[in-house]
Amino acid sequence: MNNFVFYSPTEFVFGRGTEAQVGALARKYGARKVMIVYGGGSVVRSGLLHRVKQALDEAGVQHCEMGGVQPNPIDTKVYEGIDLCRREEADMMLPVGGGSVIDTAKAIAAGVLYEGDFWDFYIGKAQVEKALKVAVVLTIPAAGSEGSGNSVITKQATLQKLSLRAPQVLRPVFSIMNPELTYTLPPFQTACGVADMMAHIMERYFTNTTDVEVPDRMCEGVLRAIVEEAPKAMADSQDYGARANLMWAGMVAHNGTCGVGCEEDWASHALEHEVSAVYGVAHGAGLAVIFPAWMTWMADHNVRKVAQYAVRVWGVPQTDDDKAVALEGIRRLRAFFVSLGLPVTFGQLGVEHPDVERLAASLHRNKGELVGNYVPLRQADSEAIYRLAL
Ligand code: NZQ
Ligand code: ZN
Repeated sequence: MNNFVFYSPTEFVFGRGTEAQVGALARKYGARKVMIVYGGGSVVRSGLLHRVKQALDEAGVQHCEMGGVQPNPIDTKVYEGIDLCRREEADMMLPVGGGSVIDTAKAIAAGVLYEGDFWDFYIGKAQVEKALKVAVVLTIPAAGSEGSGNSVITKQATLQKLSLRAPQVLRPVFSIMNPELTYTLPPFQTACGVADMMAHIMERYFTNTTDVEVPDRMCEGVLRAIVEEAPKAMADSQDYGARANLMWAGMVAHNGTCGVGCEEDWASHALEHEVSAVYGVAHGAGLAVIFPAWMTWMADHNVRKVAQYAVRVWGVPQTDDDKAVALEGIRRLRAFFVSLGLPVTFGQLGVEHPDVERLAASLHRNKGELVGNYVPLRQADSEAIYRLAL
C-alpha cells in the first residue's frame, strides 16, 4: 500500500425528509446568502426546489438561483453563474441536483474568487487556492460529486471535457442525501448512475499497487452490493432500501475511500469523456460501452487484476487460464449492463460511426502521451480500445 492522505470533511445528512434541514445546515456553515444551482427542471417539477427555498427562508438564509444547467455541463453556464454570484454577493453555492449541477456550482465557487479565467484550473494553468463553500442536495446517485473534490466541465467552443481535482477546497461542506428524492429518476438515468458508480470503483480497483487487501475487498463488496441492489431499484422505483443503498454506494464509490493507498487508473473515464464531449451521450452510458472494452484489452496486456475481479465480483470459477476467467467476468459485466437497459457498443449508444482517430487524438492532446496507470495507454492503444467497443 502506498502512502496516502485521506481528507473527507463532508457532513453527510442521509435519509427521508432530510432536505428540510438545508436551511439550518447552511446557517451552521456560516451562509448568509446561498446561490441555488439546478438543472433542466426536474427539481421544479418534483417540488424539491420549492421545499429547499422554504427551508432556507425559515432559517433566515437569503438565496438567489440559477437553473438550466445541462447534462455534461458547459463553461458558458459557469461564466453566467460567476457573474450572478458576484452581483448577488452569495457566499455559499447550493447545487440541487446531480453531478452536472454540482460540478457547475464547484466551478463557480472556485471561479468567483479568482481574478483570471476559471478554465485555467481545468487546463492546469492555475491551482484552486480558495473557493466559496459548496453544499449539496443530491437527486441522483451517479457522479459522486457530493463527496468528491472534483468537477468536470466541457469547454463548448473546443469540446474539451476536463476535470479539476481540488479535494482540499472543493469537497462539499455538507451533502443532503434523501433516497426518496431519486424515486422520480427515469430508469435510464438510474442505470447510467449505476454504471458510473461501478466505474468509479473499478478505476481504483485496477491497480498494480500490491498489499491493498482492504481497498480491494471494499471495492469488491460495494460492487457486489450494487449488482444486487440495482435490479431492485429498476423493478420498483420506490424501493426505499434499494434506493438508499445505491445512493450511499455512489458516494462511497468516489469520495476516495475505496482507493486509499492505490495508484488509480482513470483511463476509462478519460476515454469516455472524449465520447460524451463530442457526441453528448450520458456519461454513465458511455462508460458502459468503454469500460468492458478497456477490460478486454487489459485481458491481453495485464490480466492479473481482471481475472481477480471476475472471480471475486462475478463469481467466475478460478482456473489456470486467467485470460478465459477474465473474459467470462467481462461477459457477465456486459450482460449486467444490458439487463439494466444500458448500451454496450457504440452503435447501441447511438453513435453508429465514431471517429476513433479523432477521439484518440483529442484524448492524448488533452491528457498527454500516456493515459492511465494499470497499463499506460499510447494513442494506438486508445484507438484499439475504442475499436473493441464498436
Ligand atoms: O437537469 P434535470 O432536469 O434536473 O434532469 C437531470 C438530468 O437530465 C436528471 N435528474 C437528476 N436527478 C433527477 C433527475 N430526473 C428526475 N428525478 C431526479 N431525481 O438526470 C439527468 C442527468 O443529470 P446529471 O447531473 O447530468 O447526472 P450525473 O449525476 O450522472 O452527472 C454527470 C456529470 O458528472 C460528471 C460527468 O462527466 C457528467 O458531466 N462527473 C463528475 C464527477 C465528479 N465531479 O467527481 C465524476 C464522474 O466521473 C463524472 O465524470
Ligand atoms: Zn464517472
